[in-house]
Amino acid sequence: MPSARPGTRPLALVTGASGGIGEALARRAAADGHDLVLVARSRPRLDQLAAELAGGGSDAEVLAADLQTDDGVADVVARLRSTDDRPVDVLVNNAGFGSVGDFAELPADILAGEVALNVMALMLLTRAALPGMLDRRQGGILNVASLASFLPGPGMANYSATKAFVLSLTEAIREETVGSGVRITALCPGFTRTGFQGRAGVRTGGLTGPAWQSAEQVAAAGWAGFRRGDDVIVPGALNKISAVTVRFSPRPLVRKISAAAIRRLH
Ligand SMILES: NC(=O)c1ccc[n+]([C@@H]2O[C@H](COP(=O)([O-])OP(=O)(O)OC[C@H]3O[C@@H](n4cnc5c(N)ncnc54)[C@H](OP(=O)(O)O)[C@@H]3O)[C@@H](O)[C@H]2O)c1
Repeated sequence: MPSARPGTRPLALVTGASGGIGEALARRAAADGHDLVLVARSRPRLDQLAAELAGGGSDAEVLAADLQTDDGVADVVARLRSTDDRPVDVLVNNAGFGSVGDFAELPADILAGEVALNVMALMLLTRAALPGMLDRRQGGILNVASLASFLPGPGMANYSATKAFVLSLTEAIREETVGSGVRITALCPGFTRTGFQGRAGVRTGGLTGPAWQSAEQVAAAGWAGFRRGDDVIVPGALNKISAVTVRFSPRPLVRKISAAAIRRLH
C-alpha cells in the first residue's frame, strides 16, 4: 500500500524485523524518521511492531514472507521493484540463521536452507533494490554479515561461509557504486543476545559477559555507521580487536582459535 504521505519520509525495508537485531534496526530507522516495510515469517509479531511504530509516527507496512522459499523471495523482490508503491530508500538485509555442529553431521536440508536465506535471498533482494537506488542516486543497503565473515568457523562452517559471502559481496558492490550517491554497508556483529542462539541450539554459558552485546547496542552502532556511510561496521571494542587480530594472524592459528571458541557453544 502506498503511504498516506508519499515522499515525506524515507522508506526502509527490513528483513527479519520480527525480533533480535532486525527489530532493533527497524526501531532505529523509525526513530531516525523512516517509514518501514517489515519482513519476516511471523505476521503477528510484525503487526504488533507496526502498531507500535505507528504510535510513534512511523507508517509501517507488513510483508510476511518466508525468505527460504522462492515465493517468499519473489514477494519481497516484487515490493522492491514496484513502481506503483513508494520506492524503498533503504534495504536492510538482516534475516539469517546459523547452524551449529560438524558439517558432515548436519542435515543437508538445514545447510541448504541456511544458504537459501543468508546468501541467495540477500543476493536477490540486493539485486532487486540496487538499480532503482542507482537511478534515483540515493538510498542504501545495509547487509548484516557477522564477525564470522572474517574467519572460517569449524563447528559453524556453513554459517561462516555464508557470512563471508555477505561481506565480500557487500564490499565489492560498494566499490562498484562509489560516487553513485548510494550507501552500501556491511554490519558484522559478534555474539549478540537474540533468538539466534535458541534457533541454533547453542549453549551460551561457556562465553563470558564482555563478549556479548544486546541487539540494541548492535543496531545503534550499525544504524549510526550506515548513516555515516561506513563500509564495514564491527560493533563493540572486543569485536573490533578480534577482527583486526584475525586479519594479521596466520590462518592455521586463526582456524584453531575459531574452532576452540565455537566448541564452547556446542
Ligand atoms: N545473534 C548473534 O550472535 C549474531 C551475530 C552475528 C550476526 N548475526 C546475524 O544477525 C542477523 C539477525 O539475527 P538475530 O541474532 O537477530 O537472530 P534472531 O533473533 O533469530 O532473528 C532472526 C530474524 O530473521 C527472521 N527469519 C528467520 N528465518 C527467516 C525466513 N526463512 N524468512 C524470513 N525471515 C526469517 C526471523 O523472523 P521469523 O522467525 O518471524 O521469520 C527474525 O526476525 C542474522 O543475519 C544473523 O546471522 C547474529
